Amino acid sequence: MTRPIRCLITAGPTREFFDPVRFISNPSTGKMGYALAQAALDAAWTVDLISGPVALPPPQGVNLYPITTGAELHETCHDLFPSCDILIMCAAVCDMRPAQSHPHKVKKETFEWNVRFEPVPDILKSLSNVRKPGQVLVGFAAETRDIAEYARRKLEEKNLDWIVANDVSRSDAGFASDTNTVTLYARTGETYALQPGTKLEVASSLLALFAPTLSRTQSNT
Ligand code: CTP
Repeated sequence: MTRPIRCLITAGPTREFFDPVRFISNPSTGKMGYALAQAALDAAWTVDLISGPVALPPPQGVNLYPITTGAELHETCHDLFPSCDILIMCAAVCDMRPAQSHPHKVKKETFEWNVRFEPVPDILKSLSNVRKPGQVLVGFAAETRDIAEYARRKLEEKNLDWIVANDVSRSDAGFASDTNTVTLYARTGETYALQPGTKLEVASSLLALFAPTLSRTQSNT
C-alpha cells in the first residue's frame, strides 16, 4: 500500500511591519501557489498550504496555515517540513524588514524618514539545510532580467532539486496574472521551457515533471 504524496506549498506575499498600520511587501496575489495546491489535490496528493495574506478562497481539501510575516512563515515551514515528501516554495517572501518595529502607530511629526532595514533570513535555504534524504525541494525564482543565470544560481545556492524561473516583468506571466510562462531547471541539468497557459495548467505540468522523482522516493521508503 502506498500512502498519498504529502506536499507542502507556500503561497502569496509576506508583510514586514514598521508599525501596526504600515508595512513593506510585494505584489504577489497567491494565484500560482493556489493553482499548485489545486493541481496537487487533483493529483490526489495531501496538501499543506501555508499562505500569506491573499484574497483567494483556499482550494477545498487543503490544510490551510495562514501567516503574515517572514518569521511566521519560517516557523510554520519548519513545523510542517519534516512530514512532507515535496516542498514547493512559491511564496514571495519579502526580503527585508524594518530594523525597528513600533508597537503603536507612529505619528507623522515623529516619523523617521530614513527607515533602516535588515534582511529576512532565507527560509528555503534553512529548510534545505535540514532536509532528509528523499525530500524534494522546489524553489521559485522571480526575476526581471538575466533570468536563466539568476535562477540557476538560486538552484545551486539554496541546494534545490528544481527551480521554476518566472519573468515577473511580463504582464501575462508575473504577479496577479491568470496565466504564466515559466522555465524549469533541474539540479541534474535538464531545462524545460513549459508551454504558456493558465496558472492551473502550468501548475499541473510542473507537478507531472516532479511526480516521477517522488514515486521513486516513495517506493524507497
Ligand atoms: N525565499 C525564501 N526566503 C527568503 C527569500 C526567498 O525562502 N528570505 C524563497 C522564495 O520563496 C523562492 C526562492 O527563495 O522560492 C527565491 O526567491 P526570490 O525572491 O526569487 O529570490 P531571493 O532569494 O529573495 O533573491 P533576490 O531577491 O536577490 O533575487
